[in-house]
Amino acid sequence: MTLLTVVFAPLFMALFAAAAPLSGQVLAKKDVFVPRIIEPNSSTVWKSGQTFNVTWDTSDAPAQITNRFGKVLIGFGTISTPVLLANGFDILDGSVAVKVPLVETNDNWNIVLMGDSGNFSPPFTIIGVDP
Ligand SMILES: *[C@@H]1O[C@H](CO)[C@@H](O)[C@H](O)[C@H]1NC(C)=O
Ligand SMILES: *[C@@H]1O[C@H](CO)[C@@H](O)[C@H](O)[C@H]1NC(C)=O
Repeated sequence: MTLLTVVFAPLFMALFAAAAPLSGQVLAKKDVFVPRIIEPNSSTVWKSGQTFNVTWDTSDAPAQITNRFGKVLIGFGTISTPVLLANGFDILDGSVAVKVPLVETNDNWNIVLMGDSGNFSPPFTIIGVDP
């Protein structure tokens, strides 16, 4: 047994023990809600430093939601960044205001709305600073 095994094995067992009943409960009782993002969409133009609303469709939300706390992250192309624009709001609210960070001007930005599961917006434009 290596030192690493000695140190990490109990940690992994603890994680596994914690995760197992949780996933059983999720599968048994709850539905995954993947809301459709209404805005931003492909015709959206945001400006760095200004505040805009992210809006999404809550009309098909299941009665039981695994994780009601939402997060909005910013992405570029197919890369989602760990930069949070909003956090801890109720995913059933249908909108959240975000302040646009200072980024380079490009039409390939998107946002990721995370609740139960992540959903990407289409690419849209942010006017920031010239690349
Ligand atoms: C983007 O959203 C706005 C506001 O809801 C809407 O007026 C516009 O038609 C949408 N554009 C597209 C391409 O979906
Ligand atoms: C965002 O939504 C709030 C509440 O509906 C509204 O009062 C506000 O004007 C909206 N802001 C923008 C930038 O559309």
